[in-house]
Amino acid sequence: MTNSWRRCGDPWKAFASRSSKPCAPRNATTHYPSINSFVDVTAAADIIPPIPRCPLSATRILVTCFTSLRASRDPTRRAFAIDDLHSLDQILADVFDELEHAPSQPDHPWRLPVLGTTGSHGCELRTVVLRKFAPAQLALYCHTDLRSPKVAQLQQHPRTSWLFYHPGRRVQVRVTGITQLHQGDALANEFWNASAPASLNLYRALRAPGTIEAAPSSNLPPELAGRPLTREEVEPGRQLFVLIETTLQSIDWLRIDQSGSLRALFKWDAEGKRTANWVAP
Ligand SMILES: Cc1cc2nc3c(=O)[nH]c(=O)nc-3n(C[C@H](O)[C@H](O)[C@H](O)COP(=O)(O)O)c2cc1C
Repeated sequence: MTNSWRRCGDPWKAFASRSSKPCAPRNATTHYPSINSFVDVTAAADIIPPIPRCPLSATRILVTCFTSLRASRDPTRRAFAIDDLHSLDQILADVFDELEHAPSQPDHPWRLPVLGTTGSHGCELRTVVLRKFAPAQLALYCHTDLRSPKVAQLQQHPRTSWLFYHPGRRVQVRVTGITQLHQGDALANEFWNASAPASLNLYRALRAPGTIEAAPSSNLPPELAGRPLTREEVEPGRQLFVLIETTLQSIDWLRIDQSGSLRALFKWDAEGKRTANWVAP
């Protein structure tokens, strides 16, 4: 997957909407564009996409456009095209690729997933920062404060859900897994050391997250509030730093599309053996 794709979303949508954004990927054929791309372009058959200001050659763009137009008019070919572009392996590879790159891209929508836990009153949801995805370990990581309620919830109910949505691609990914908490161990220290002090100042908070305050409060010691902290200043927070590691058990992938959505379910057993199935959207 190219960075230009990741930055700009679906280039075919941009074509169809006559967007002048320079956002086509260098190799559009290696990605799965919207199924709608066929329909959108056909619906306005006289629309030839404007040639974007991008590194793609004009010939290449036209060849790709006409290939898609032809595919959209031939039901057999179109079905083939959908299968071709949406193999289960390709979808999973794409999801993994996005998850791997999201933490380092501030604007990537999957950098801020929703983490779901089970509390005493039922389901609890909150936004977190995705810090890392390790495909080899099938593990998602985020940080939290030892005193936050979600830590106790995860200790009691390690089964966890993560929710990701990409508005540009209309892709929802629902992950389930089992969570392990790391505090003061080698892995937690590795993540702490790799984090910028700006991401760690919260661990100097005076009171537990969720404590009732008498007045509006940043919950930081007055001498540390309202300014960037140095590495030395955040260091005492290490003892409150918890690394949340969720080992994947399933990924439910859904691509919403007015002309026909697609859904796929990937599951891993305890040995890491994977099954993959198409699912009714
Ligand atoms: C953009 C954003 C990113 C956040 N990232 C984290 C995070 O990485 N870790 C975390 O514990 N809380 C994070 N929070 C705060 C949580 O959403 C939540 O309010 C807090 O962790 C308390 O949750 P709890 O009471 O369920 O433990 C973030 C909030 C926002 C708005």
